[in-house]
Amino acid sequence: MANKELIDALNQDLALELGAITQYMWHHAMAEGLNSPSITELFKKISIVEMKHAESFAERVVYLGGTPVTKPSEIKMGGDLKKMMEDDLAGERNAIKQYKAHLKLAEGLGDPVTRRMLESIIADEEGHDDTWSTILGIKSLLEE
Ligand SMILES: [Fe+2]
Ligand SMILES: [Fe+2]
Repeated sequence: MANKELIDALNQDLALELGAITQYMWHHAMAEGLNSPSITELFKKISIVEMKHAESFAERVVYLGGTPVTKPSEIKMGGDLKKMMEDDLAGERNAIKQYKAHLKLAEGLGDPVTRRMLESIIADEEGHDDTWSTILGIKSLLEE
């Protein structure tokens, strides 16, 4: 099946989103004791965005004739607030690289709708990269 490679790729992306949802939600819950309400609010807000991404990936997998995965990718827990943001930043950068590769795959297979979906999700992840890079005071992924 021509779509098999793309379905597998989108399921890898879905697993990353499922991991990100939980990681952000738990960071939101665990950082609550710290005196950083603005950052814990960001964890919650971004977790909800990742949920929308997961929904998009799952719907696309089903549309292409596949079965969406339910198992999340590795979830990084623990540490102080800075460690949480560093782990989240690393996750965003990993996702951006992976989604860009899958965007090329979709393009090569002549699937503009999947390409456009990835384009829009990558834009959101670059926004998250910008959020954490700015707070942590480091260069963004595209500045590197
Ligand atoms: Fe996402
Ligand atoms: Fe993200």
